[in-house]
Amino acid sequence: MAEQTGRAGAEKTVAFTFDGEPVTGRLGEPLAVALVRAGYINLARSPKFHRPRGPSCLRGGCDGCVLRVDGVPNVLSCLEPVRDGVRVESQNSALTRRFDPLRGADFTFPNGFNHHDFLAGIPIAEDLLAAFARKVAGLGHLPTEPGSVREATVETTDVLVVGSGPFGLAAARAAASAGLQSIVVDDAVAPGGVLRAFPARDPRAAYLHPAPKDLRVGATVVGIYDPDGKPRALLLARDRGASLIYPKWFVFATGNHDATIPCGDEDRPGVFSARAAGILVEAGVVLQEPVLVAPRGATELGRSVAERLGITVIEKGVSEVLGLSEVRGVSFEDGTTLSAKTVIVDVPPAPAHELLAEAGFAVVLGEAGFLPAGNSLVSRRNCFLAIGGANGRALGEVAATEAALDRIFSEASVVDEGAEEKNSPGDGEHIKHTK
Ligand code: FES
Repeated sequence: MAEQTGRAGAEKTVAFTFDGEPVTGRLGEPLAVALVRAGYINLARSPKFHRPRGPSCLRGGCDGCVLRVDGVPNVLSCLEPVRDGVRVESQNSALTRRFDPLRGADFTFPNGFNHHDFLAGIPIAEDLLAAFARKVAGLGHLPTEPGSVREATVETTDVLVVGSGPFGLAAARAAASAGLQSIVVDDAVAPGGVLRAFPARDPRAAYLHPAPKDLRVGATVVGIYDPDGKPRALLLARDRGASLIYPKWFVFATGNHDATIPCGDEDRPGVFSARAAGILVEAGVVLQEPVLVAPRGATELGRSVAERLGITVIEKGVSEVLGLSEVRGVSFEDGTTLSAKTVIVDVPPAPAHELLAEAGFAVVLGEAGFLPAGNSLVSRRNCFLAIGGANGRALGEVAATEAALDRIFSEASVVDEGAEEKNSPGDGEHIKHTK
């Protein structure tokens, strides 16, 4: 895919390799974005049927971009920054990512098969199949070199915000205005969340400023733990090591997952969510022969992407994404077809509720997906607060959410202990700093 102008026009360009072929990308941008810009859409193969895989969401939610990076398997390349000289390889191909004879299983068993039962009880065939399965099973190969020992730290803070989208950054601002210290973490390569998919000139880009003092991107939340009963801690993994963080308040601003459409072959490389398409456009990637389908009506983001691409939103039900290793077209429920090399799927997203459920929120299934019970601007459970998309709120509610958090944090900093509300990290007895 050729390059066009975008918000990231002036970054430094560096070189790396993909399956031994030279590629250039912008230093620090997601590897998956650089690969799509360079024309690599089909990146790897699925573990069982060896179907072609490509990036679809660009937010760590679909696993279509999983690659081997500098010998480390199963790296989500949409969350991995481009570095000079990095060695990137496709995974799970029997021969090459373009030609994989094991794809035959996909055609032979179009309705799938249970590999636990397949040929079971048939002498010789059963043993041969088991030996073969042991050879090809699994996702990626273990690193050839052992990893280095990395730093482990224990930290405390007033407010720990998960998610650096518009709501997460609003939470950090509210904490700062109440005189509280905060740490903001995100697994993406850059802050902004869904705003990265909107044009840089969008007035809501103002939500991104000022940047929090302690912003940690490329940081994955492993889980929430209560090693000693109370208080609870969050384990964070980063390239440089791990941190166990004890906050007084947890704020979950985990946003939304990109939903897809229930149609045939919607996993074909070349199918992108509206968010992913917006990020690619803003990164200066030209999407080849795009169509944008919105079977339930266009979202604000979908309309914005269509406008930037100069295409019409198609509000029809999709029956199948056509193609082989990559998209070649789309067929609709009304029997019509369109040729396309890029299919952009615009459907309402689903709240990213998983960490909320782990934190003990009661979540209920609504039309959009699982949400915290109740319908408050800020859902609360003791020291846990859920805001933004994960709490079912729309982008237009950032300012109101910030004001609500401002009140909560201001009251908390006056009332002090608030033992019922806050996660008190205690007297430090269990807070040991280790390297
Ligand atoms: S997980 Fe990387 S593109 Fe979806």
